[in-house]
Amino acid sequence: MKQVIHPSILNCDIADLKGELHKIRNADMAHVDVMDNHFVPNLSWGLPVVEAAHRLGILPIDSHLMIADPDRWAPGYAEAGCASVTFHAEAATAPIRLARELRRLGAKAGLALRPATPIEPFIELLPEFDMILIMTVEPGFGGQAFLDNMMPKVRRTREAISATNLDISIQVDGGVSAKTIEIAAEAGANNFVAGSAVFTADNAYEEVEKLRALVAKHSH
Ligand code: DX5
Ligand code: ZN
Repeated sequence: MKQVIHPSILNCDIADLKGELHKIRNADMAHVDVMDNHFVPNLSWGLPVVEAAHRLGILPIDSHLMIADPDRWAPGYAEAGCASVTFHAEAATAPIRLARELRRLGAKAGLALRPATPIEPFIELLPEFDMILIMTVEPGFGGQAFLDNMMPKVRRTREAISATNLDISIQVDGGVSAKTIEIAAEAGANNFVAGSAVFTADNAYEEVEKLRALVAKHSH
């Protein structure tokens, strides 16, 4: 399973999006958090910013939609050229139909679970997805502490994926840093989102390299 680093631009200097994306050009994708102040108690940005990030052509875009009614809004992010579109299990009305629509539009389909949402009700849905995002903080804000009690869920998800023989990634998002990333890798995650750890580092490029080197020790 390929290990990838997807820095979150939530707390970057959005006035210099080009410069900030250039700093992390060694990452695999840029993780762009869309928040609607309904599904989460915070408002970030929507399609125009995601389109702008995509148009810069520096990194493929991994969009994380923390929004109500993804059934209606998520396909637009695939149409905008996002390489990956992740919606929340708690918010979707018809997750299978939506995942198929995202794939039909050429994007990878991701299913995100809040900390209190178990994986078990979604095991049968795994083949519909390219990625499962296991939140390691309550979604809504960057800079929160990593919930290491999510690691049993990561392990159970990895076991369930192994049983399918499919190439499905497990992404962890929230509080991921040089201090916590190995715990997640050891539990079976292979896709790592880090926001504040990368953008508060003196050198974001070096921080991405550092995180990559740390997880390489735990490749499954
Ligand atoms: C939180 C977002 C995360 C956030 C991560 O709701 O989904 O992507 O930006 O930020 P850090 O790494 O600072 O926890
Ligand atoms: Zn996110």
